[in-house]
Amino acid sequence: MSMLTTHCGESDVGGGYKNNRSFASTAQASADASGSSLKSASLSILQRNCAKCHGAGASSGGFSIVDDVEAMITSNKYIIPGAPQDSAIYKRIAVAKNMPPSGPLSDADAETIKQWIAGLNLESDALAILQNNCASCHGAGASSGGFGIIDNVEAMIASNKYIVPGNPEGSAIYKRIAVAKSMPPAGPLAASDADTIREWIAGLK
Ligand code: HEC
Ligand code: HEC
Repeated sequence: MSMLTTHCGESDVGGGYKNNRSFASTAQASADASGSSLKSASLSILQRNCAKCHGAGASSGGFSIVDDVEAMITSNKYIIPGAPQDSAIYKRIAVAKNMPPSGPLSDADAETIKQWIAGLNLESDALAILQNNCASCHGAGASSGGFGIIDNVEAMIASNKYIVPGNPEGSAIYKRIAVAKSMPPAGPLAASDADTIREWIAGLK
C-alpha cells in the first residue's frame, strides 16, 4: 500500500519548507526545516497506512489517536520524543513489523518515521520559537506589558500564569499565540510553530 503513493521522503529534507524563524542561525534554520519536512512526511505515512484502523472513529486494539501527535506524545507510550525504539508505533512498524497487518512499510517510510521521532525535541524547538518571536519584547532587559521572563521557563512555570504544565489553553503565552492570536503584534505565528508550543506545554509535567 505504501508503495503505491508518491510521498515526500528524505529527498526533500531541508528544502521547500517555509518557516518564519527568520533570525535563527543557519544551522538552526536548517534543523527546523528538516524537522517540519520529516513531520509532514511522517504524518502522511501514518495517515495513509494506519488511520483507517487507528484514526478518528477507529480504534483497533484500543489505539485511536494516530492522527493526533500531541496525544501520542502525552500518552507516554505511542511516541517518546527522541526515542523511536521506545515508541510503540515505531516498535510495531520496524521492530515487530506487524503493523500495518497487510505487510510492513517500505524501509524508506520506516526510516522517515524513525528520524522524525528521533529528532522530536519539542523543548529546544519551542524555546527557539519563543526566542525568535518574543524575546525582543519579553526577554532579558525587555518587559512589554510587564512580562519579561519569556527566556526563563522555570519562572514562567512558577508564575502559574504564563505556562501551566500540561495545559496549553490555560497558559497565557499559548492563549496570546493561538487563541487571541494577538502575539507577536506583527502577526500570528505559523500554525506549525503554534502547534510546537502547544505540544511542548501539553507534555510538560
Ligand atoms: C487493518 C487495520 C490496521 C491497520 C491499517 C493498522 N493497524 Fe495497528 N492494530 C490493528 C489491530 C487489530 C490491533 C490490535 C491487535 C494487536 O495488538 O496486534 C492493532 C494494534 C496496534 C498497536 C498496539 C496498540 C496498543 O495500545 O498497544 C499499535 C502501536 C499499532 N497497532 C500501530 C499501528 C501503526 C503505526 C500502523 C500503521 C503503520 C497500524 N497500526 C496500522 C489494526 C490495524
Ligand atoms: C514587538 C513587541 C512584542 C513582541 C515581539 C511580542 N509581544 Fe507580547 N506584548 C507586547 C506588548 C506591548 C504587550 C502589552 C499589551 C498587551 O497586553 O497586549 C504584550 C503582552 C503580552 C502578554 C500579556 C502579559 C501579561 O502579563 O498579561 C503575553 C502573555 C505576551 N505578550 C506574550 C507574547 C508572546 C508569547 C510573544 C511571542 C510569540 C510575544 N508576546 C511577542 C509586545 C510584544
